[in-house]
Amino acid sequence: MTQNSPTSAHQRLLIIDFGSQVTQLIARRLRELNIYCEIHPYQKVSADSIRAMAPLAVILSGGPASVLDKDSPRAPQELFEMGLPILGICYGQQVMMTQLGGKVEGGHHAEFGRAFVQPAGNHTSDPIFAGWFENGREEVWMSHGDRVTELAPGFEVYGTSENAPFAIIGDPARRFYAVQFHPEVHHTPNGARLLKNFTDLAGFTGDWTMAAYKDEAIRQIRETVGDGKVICGLSGGVDSSVTAVLIHEAIGDQLTCVFVDTGLMRAGEADEVVGMFRDNYNIPLIHADESDLFLGALDGQSDPETKRKIIGRLFIEVFEKHAKSVGGAQFLAQGTLYPDVIESVSFSGGPSVTIKSHHNVGGLPEKMGLKLVEPLRELFKDEVRALGRELGLPASFVGRHPFPGPGLAIRCPGEITREKLEILRQADAVFIDQIRKHGLYDKIWQAFVAILPVRTVGVMGDGRTYDFACALRAVTSVDGMTADYYPFSHEFLSETANRIIGEVRGINRVTYDITSKPPGTIEWE
Ligand code: XMP
Repeated sequence: MTQNSPTSAHQRLLIIDFGSQVTQLIARRLRELNIYCEIHPYQKVSADSIRAMAPLAVILSGGPASVLDKDSPRAPQELFEMGLPILGICYGQQVMMTQLGGKVEGGHHAEFGRAFVQPAGNHTSDPIFAGWFENGREEVWMSHGDRVTELAPGFEVYGTSENAPFAIIGDPARRFYAVQFHPEVHHTPNGARLLKNFTDLAGFTGDWTMAAYKDEAIRQIRETVGDGKVICGLSGGVDSSVTAVLIHEAIGDQLTCVFVDTGLMRAGEADEVVGMFRDNYNIPLIHADESDLFLGALDGQSDPETKRKIIGRLFIEVFEKHAKSVGGAQFLAQGTLYPDVIESVSFSGGPSVTIKSHHNVGGLPEKMGLKLVEPLRELFKDEVRALGRELGLPASFVGRHPFPGPGLAIRCPGEITREKLEILRQADAVFIDQIRKHGLYDKIWQAFVAILPVRTVGVMGDGRTYDFACALRAVTSVDGMTADYYPFSHEFLSETANRIIGEVRGINRVTYDITSKPPGTIEWE
């Protein structure tokens, strides 16, 4: 767990994940309370690993299993003897009851959605209820099949709902609490307060601030790198920019950044990124124009995975070349974020099918014999933005939409040609300009144009056209793992379509992609 990392100086909370779809939201709510927490899948948690992490409290998440099933997930039994406050949520409540001597039964009416809980017994002055039940009852979100039917010794009923006689239970002497609903979701409007009450009574002071994180991360980077050399690939995205600036603050010009122009960048991107770094920071920066190399290798390729693999391989080659050129870098800095880390150790052991090979993580360091520096691997995207602000990065940069490593290649389904890339760049620039003009940029997680591998017939003036079709894509999202399409007005869409067709030669048809993720993905390939 988190020994010797920028977070080890902070109070920590451990979330044991039993596989709920919303476990990440527990972490989000706690981080909003300035509490540092980590999610670990139950299979990887042992009494020893808990002691090593030394959390101040533990939360047991919900999950899809039934405690009644053979071999269903449990927490390490010793956890309950460690004197730590524990909060069980939904499946976590059932785990607590099962392991502590209560009873859980199936076959009851499954309960999904909105419910109301009211206090039971004489517990409204218990610190867990600060700010709760001020209007007599609280709205909560339930999602469970089994339910607790007999409390473990020491527990009392704190709250009930129509279908849940043990909606909230507690054993205040041991500071054990458990709820049948999900306090972490927005549909439990006062849920964050309950989580705060739990962490307050566990002794958290909210010491997880970006300023503290930054100082600790800098100390950590210095310790790891010593007087070694680091190279960092800059893509112009927020993650790599924040990584670069943070490392530069730690070790100055032991860091060299490499901006690889793959020929797959958006209009003006290379100048913007290189300019931003040259003007604002004194970081040694190599601007590697490798567009011929990348576009040459992609010529004639139309399979999405083949394209991604080619790009990944070439990045390795280019980085290798530059690691040597800076006099032998031993470290490679990457802007890996916490969702990437969780995904790879998730409840199910990570995704079983490869949807897309994200080239920028896999394989690079091992093949190059470089050690990794990943100072953002404990942060969520919005925390990275906060850290960027803390580091003084310009607001326009911190707020940039994500841009994928493989660039426009994955927005150009089928074969990539220079002609298509040029058309795509122009259309994309018009779309983003429209979004900015209408004040929508910050409301959208990511927006771009994809050029479709099909020409369609149109009429312009008196003439026939036979040009490419394109699709606009704009989504809202929290972390890119799920997404909804952005509900533009019809006026916005028609104005944008008219502008693209009028201003960009080579496109005569514009469509709007209204697929959410899942089942779609954000990018087209
Ligand atoms: P998908 O298309 O998987 O995208 O729904 C989710 C988010 O990830 C970005 N993305 C990538 N970022 N390297 C990256 O750095 C990649 O290979 C890659 N593929 C997708 C995508 O832009 C979106 O923000």
